[in-house]
Amino acid sequence: MIDLNQPSLLALLEAADRDAYVSGEEISKRLNVSRTAIWKQIRKLEAEGYVIEAVPRLGYRLVGRPSRLTRQEVQTRLQTREFGRHLHLFDSVSSTQDVLRELAEEGAPEGTLVIAEQQTQGRGRMGRVWVSPPGKGVWMSLLLRPQVPLQATPQLTLLAAVALRRAVSAVVPLDIGIKWPNDLLVDGKKISGILLESAAEEERLRYVVVGLGISANLEPEDYPEDVASKAVSLKMAAGRPVDRAELIAVTLKEFEELYELYLRDGFEPIRALWEAHSVNLNRKTTLATPRGPIEGIPRGLNDMGGLLVELSDGTLMPVYSAEIQSST
Ligand code: BTN
Repeated sequence: MIDLNQPSLLALLEAADRDAYVSGEEISKRLNVSRTAIWKQIRKLEAEGYVIEAVPRLGYRLVGRPSRLTRQEVQTRLQTREFGRHLHLFDSVSSTQDVLRELAEEGAPEGTLVIAEQQTQGRGRMGRVWVSPPGKGVWMSLLLRPQVPLQATPQLTLLAAVALRRAVSAVVPLDIGIKWPNDLLVDGKKISGILLESAAEEERLRYVVVGLGISANLEPEDYPEDVASKAVSLKMAAGRPVDRAELIAVTLKEFEELYELYLRDGFEPIRALWEAHSVNLNRKTTLATPRGPIEGIPRGLNDMGGLLVELSDGTLMPVYSAEIQSST
């Protein structure tokens, strides 16, 4: 599925200094392919929206990139062992969650990634709609097949938040906090959302589909009225657009690293990382739970990834499924 030649050609062109040409001879030596093969690959890149200048005797120079995501852009930047190596990229889907779930049922391996430029029925937590306009966000789903009990799912939810936080911070210099369980906030406004959907058999997890939505380059007018005051894009917050392919690659790298750490050393290191960036700990908080509202002060996470909320009588109550309404 991975076309090793084409990403390498793009990598060579991208690695060249600005204004510098890479000669056909060099490309064919480095990639061990013929001049005709290079030309074919150039045509393929051009079809993807790259603009490549070809000057006789000088060589090739990359002068323009497509504004939409391409397989090549993502693959050239990947630094992972497995995550994202089976990549499915679409212009428009109902929800990347549904596409990946089907692939998972057909036996897709761990790390399989589905990315879409647009989702027509993107969904969020608690049955909400996730607005996913074309070409501006990162809408993707990643497949995990961890050998852990079903009750460990909350741990993976928190792991996803830590990984995404690390990735976004590495790409854009913003101060990012985690709102329990896995929303990322900048100045109190949401920049991303994470949705875990799992398939289980008895007490065993068969697979988990991790949906990641990052408001990368959305403009204020892309948000519906009811969301506009609570959300912000990275572009709006940082004042400059972000490279979505870069963001995807770094997210997968951080995610794979933390996931391997989790499988090796358990939840403890993840818990510490999550707690270090939580915006809710030690603040008076109201949580809406399926069994009604709870008021208390979140003090940390328990071993299973539940939020430990200190109630007025001093008892610590673990909460697994709820929505934070206010935190002051
Ligand atoms: C939330 O904060 O409510 C979670 C939002 C999750 C959105 C992502 S976008 C990619 C994947 N596909 C979906 O339909 N949802 C998730």
